[in-house]
Amino acid sequence: MGAQIIDGKSIAAEIRSDLKVRIDRLKEKGITPGLTVVLVGDDPASQTYVRSKQRTSGEIGINSNVIELPEDTAQSELIDLIEQLNQDDTVHGILVQLPLPRHFDTDAVIQAVSPSKDVDGFHPINVGNLWAGLADSFAPCTPVGIMELLRRTGVDPAGMNAVVIGRSNIVGKPMAGLLLKANATVTICHSRTKDLEAHVKNADILIVAIGQPRFVKDSWVKPGAVIIDVGMNRVDGKLCGDVDESVKKVASHITPVPGGVGPMTIAQLLVNTVIAAERTNFVD
Ligand code: GUN
Repeated sequence: MGAQIIDGKSIAAEIRSDLKVRIDRLKEKGITPGLTVVLVGDDPASQTYVRSKQRTSGEIGINSNVIELPEDTAQSELIDLIEQLNQDDTVHGILVQLPLPRHFDTDAVIQAVSPSKDVDGFHPINVGNLWAGLADSFAPCTPVGIMELLRRTGVDPAGMNAVVIGRSNIVGKPMAGLLLKANATVTICHSRTKDLEAHVKNADILIVAIGQPRFVKDSWVKPGAVIIDVGMNRVDGKLCGDVDESVKKVASHITPVPGGVGPMTIAQLLVNTVIAAERTNFVD
């Protein structure tokens, strides 16, 4: 028997249709949720992500604006722009697409975004709130989208061994924080972890976010484990995940690539933008 495929594409569509109701309610009050995405430079992958964010936002009635800046933009120009956006009442969410060109101090840029408009959940205040277990602050979109996939699939992490491979600020670390908040027993593995296979073997829920094509093999996986593949690798022109196809035979549930985690990240960004608009306008 093969694993149940977790259909992120259709779950994301459900989330967007639920959101539309909230957006219509805001519009009745004369408020249009506004998201501004700032893209610096011309990295093709970032351009693709940003276009996809803009298209999906527009489709459900979010006012989405992309500001494109040249590669050689100065740090101070970017910070000035963010400060203007912080003051602009029509902008509820601000997202600075990462990675930034090398001459930027990414931490300083992230810290310039007002925590109440930080729909990425990257500002240290929002990161701190997540780890302190406080509700009502923004958490990064990919891990929140994964928690939603688990919830809507009927997987309750409480008491489970959850293993996260990858320790980035965008996925691995916040993922671990959210799983811990949901009462899982959490292990974070990374490039320096010894005997990775032994950790993976112990996982009831395995989240893989390392950017290495087909890295996790079926022989490593505990039968019946829930597998979430965050990988987006291009091999011979085709997209593939960080988890080998063979794992489908062993897992109970698995996310496909594409069509698993990817669509959830954008859906969650839209959710965070609507939450930001609701909060600043005291709509509950
Ligand atoms: N680059 C890759 N993923 C993300 C994300 O979730 N947010 C931002 N701002 N940049 C990214």
